[in-house]
Amino acid sequence: MNSSPWWKEATIYQIYPRSFFDSNSDGEGDLPGITSKLDYVKSLGVDAIWLSPFYTSPNKDGGYDVANPRDVDPRFGNLEDARELITQAHKRNLRVIADIVPNHFSDQHEWFQAALKSKRGSKERERFHFYDANEDGTPPNNWISLFGGPSWTQVEDGQFYLHLFDSTQPDLNWENPEVNADFEKTLRFWIDLGVDGFRIDVAHGLIKEDVLTNHPDPQGLSNALRLDVAMDSEERNALLLTVPYFDRQGVHEIYRKWRKLFDSYTGREIMAVAEAWVHPPVNATRYVRADELHQVFNFDLLTAEFDSDVLFDVVERSISLNATVNALPTWALSNHDSPRVASRIGDEQARALALFVFGLPGSAYVFAGQELGLPDGQLQDSDRQDPTFFRTNGAIKGRDGARVPLPWSGDTTPFGFSTAKPWLPISQSWKDLTIENELADPKSSLHLYKNALELRKEFLVGAGGITWLESSQHGHKNDSLLSYSRGSITVVMNLSDSAKECDAAGKLIIVSGGTVDARDGKKVIPARSTAWFLT
Ligand code: NOJ
Repeated sequence: MNSSPWWKEATIYQIYPRSFFDSNSDGEGDLPGITSKLDYVKSLGVDAIWLSPFYTSPNKDGGYDVANPRDVDPRFGNLEDARELITQAHKRNLRVIADIVPNHFSDQHEWFQAALKSKRGSKERERFHFYDANEDGTPPNNWISLFGGPSWTQVEDGQFYLHLFDSTQPDLNWENPEVNADFEKTLRFWIDLGVDGFRIDVAHGLIKEDVLTNHPDPQGLSNALRLDVAMDSEERNALLLTVPYFDRQGVHEIYRKWRKLFDSYTGREIMAVAEAWVHPPVNATRYVRADELHQVFNFDLLTAEFDSDVLFDVVERSISLNATVNALPTWALSNHDSPRVASRIGDEQARALALFVFGLPGSAYVFAGQELGLPDGQLQDSDRQDPTFFRTNGAIKGRDGARVPLPWSGDTTPFGFSTAKPWLPISQSWKDLTIENELADPKSSLHLYKNALELRKEFLVGAGGITWLESSQHGHKNDSLLSYSRGSITVVMNLSDSAKECDAAGKLIIVSGGTVDARDGKKVIPARSTAWFLT
């Protein structure tokens, strides 16, 4: 029996509930819809699901604006549906990770509504960051929201409240013990309902310091924090070291307390993964010290070019930094906040990179639809719902493209996702990418994922570290091939546009695309593809 905790090298499937499967014909996915498709999820070979927020919410930021963190939004179902989803997942030996949003509430949360009705200095306002205007009437500082526009919104009596994201997402004041107590209640609520872990939204943002101090270059900082704004990397890194509201030491005290809470559930292995985008990268390891959280997202692969030097550096750095705190890395190629990997680097490259990453030590996160090779949805501006689009007056298109619902079956849009008009349109061009079609095609991306995850489980989970392979033919010194061995498997990725010969030993067990030519004792890896060899 494997004594390692379940999450250690788990493959975790991220579900954006609104886009997964609509069971009640309102054009939006829901919890019973997810429950009804758990056999599909299980068949992928994943170990757990991470559910993006499904709590009561006015949905100004895709549910990351939570009005009641201990209830289900009617658009997704009710608490009974959540309980049933968890029960059915557990029956299939799938763990469930909920998404907790501690940096902010929705402005519709009862606390914020009470704060609006209360006086300056009241205990209701103390739960958020309310400040008076400067003498000239301007906001308390010059910070820019991560979604664009000012970080402050003024209320009727002239005070301003802080919101790092949309104006409908007031930041919570974590110096206030009531905030701490309320979140502990929320964690217990979901653990008692059966969840096995949490993804912690903006985990690095909870503690603010120097709230009344201006930043010397707020626009530069705002650009540096946006992955869709091009900037010289030295300039970006220098600016990122100056973020006044992220990665303060106080956040770690919170996670130490949470860890104690998780560990108090004896006989269960409750885990948490931090969304902590911090600089320099070594700071991320602080979130996974032995008495803090279990995993921290590594976002590097969401932006990395399909280039051997870049990918070597990302992989090597992530493994070695995590090793300093005895943790394993996490790998993600797509999520609901970034362009889908197939659109970003190309379809064949996305398959190759997935197979490369599935061999690595640590946890692999797969964003629903990634297994199909889905590209970003093509949307009209009139379809868009992301607050970033509105707060930047359309200058930044936002994240809706990655959130287009899944195509399940049939020949015409919306491909079985719903019998109603889906909340975002699904292009007719996705006809060949439906789950039904890909299941029928042994060469599909879906089959690649299923086969790879099965082989990963059989040969690689628990197989220890990697050894980079270097030679004149392959290895990180070569522009075309990147290769490592782990346990009994050798992984070779050909990043170039032409087939390349390599001298990997062993028998071919999977290739991400094309055919490996293994005549005359030589192995020729097709362009833009990855192969695994078993010795
Ligand atoms: C990160 C989430 O992934 C994103 O979707 C959200 O908009 C922000 N945090 C704010 O909660």
